[in-house]
Amino acid sequence: MKIAIIGTGYVGLPSGIGFASFDNDVICIDKDEAKINALKANQITLYEEGLEELFLKTVQSGKLHFTTSVKEGVQNADIVILAVGTPPHPKTKEADLQYIYAAAEELAHYLSGYTVVANKSTVPVGTGNAVEQIIRQTNPNADFDVVSLPEFLREGYALHDFFNPDRIIAGCNTERAENLIKELYAPFNGKTQMLFVTRQSSETIKYASNAFLAMKIHYINEIADFCEKSGANIDEVSKGMGLDKRIGDKFLNAGPGFGGSCFPKDTMAMALMGDKYGVNLSLIKQTIEGNRARKADMAERILSMVQNIQAPVIGVLGLAFKNGTDDVRESPAMEIISHLISKNVRIKAFDYQAMPNAQKVFGQQIEFAKTPEDVFKGSDIVAVLTEWPAFKTLDFARFAPLMKHQKIADFRNLLNAADMKKLGFEYIRIGSF
Ligand SMILES: NC(=O)c1ccc[n+]([C@@H]2O[C@H](COP(=O)([O-])OP(=O)(O)OC[C@H]3O[C@@H](n4cnc5c(N)ncnc54)[C@H](O)[C@@H]3O)[C@@H](O)[C@H]2O)c1
Repeated sequence: MKIAIIGTGYVGLPSGIGFASFDNDVICIDKDEAKINALKANQITLYEEGLEELFLKTVQSGKLHFTTSVKEGVQNADIVILAVGTPPHPKTKEADLQYIYAAAEELAHYLSGYTVVANKSTVPVGTGNAVEQIIRQTNPNADFDVVSLPEFLREGYALHDFFNPDRIIAGCNTERAENLIKELYAPFNGKTQMLFVTRQSSETIKYASNAFLAMKIHYINEIADFCEKSGANIDEVSKGMGLDKRIGDKFLNAGPGFGGSCFPKDTMAMALMGDKYGVNLSLIKQTIEGNRARKADMAERILSMVQNIQAPVIGVLGLAFKNGTDDVRESPAMEIISHLISKNVRIKAFDYQAMPNAQKVFGQQIEFAKTPEDVFKGSDIVAVLTEWPAFKTLDFARFAPLMKHQKIADFRNLLNAADMKKLGFEYIRIGSF
């Protein structure tokens, strides 16, 4: 099968590599010349575990190619997958569909033979209809169907999720399109439930799922706040709740609030879509507001621990929005740091993968440490803001004397509280007394 993917980012690249590994001929297209040049030179452009190895293997097999030309990519494709960004519109905060529409218009010129245009970007209900209309107007003779094919992969587990999806959802309007999607996902036959629904349902499933997960995180964070006051321990509470199969044990880790390139923008887009249809999605709105306030609250908790220290130095472990990725978009760590910067404190930060991306945002405003050890040197407090597992096994006994004051704010509940206290740290975490 010949597959063209427009948009070679956190979704497009792992998907392209995955489909190529199933022996499809895949061409990944992007407007970003630097990105395509790097990929053509065998340099991977984002961090995901195992991605680089499979990338090199699929390139070597001759099944994966890259181009900046929509024409070159689309003209022979059986399926064109849209994986461009749908960021919040700077003014309205709705999903900004300019990249989707621009790609639809451009690809329309080069469709040849029957083609499925499958949308993997997260888009509001009705976008499939709009894309269909754009293609039809641009190229009235084109033989095509538009399918909604939402993506559910998690950053940090992109390859794992590509090969082991919980479900495959496709919104198809014709049997012909449905058959092509079945062919595309044939390697998953018998392994993964495939659900064919209308385009509108498919578009809604993606937003409703992300909003639900975001609410679950916000819920456990509120319960953590309650535990802090009531004397309960959130780790025990989460464990006890998670044993109930109706609740499930995922997304019950209390922390500094959710972030990333999806939950914040998708909850906002869903809430605004509700307003547009006259439906008040109040739970989602409350989640957005509570989550926004939580980041500022986290920064204030750090500041309160150093309030009596002159010109405090704050060390930060973790910048990515979660472990396993170099993505800092809407990262809680980045937002907490921004809040701290506004209070004129000195910050030294370290992350295993996300420092280049964070540097693009903060420039000289913060110091970037070469090692976790450097974060401790001369700091008055160290805040753990991303749950990289390697932070758990740092040599805290050796690092403690390097600090000016021995304080740790562990907002990922990553470290062992008793161990930290034994080492003499003033230690706080989320959701316990
Ligand atoms: N990142 C995730 O974990 C994730 C998971 C599920 C769904 N999604 C959704 O998938 C979509 C893509 O997300 P992402 O994180 O991969 O975005 P991204 O920003 O990493 O990548 C998007 C790419 O599209 C390119 N692009 C934009 N317009 C283009 C055009 N007209 N022609 C060619 N290339 C173009 C950009 O240069 C960029 O490289 C979004 O709608 C997002 O909500 C993301």
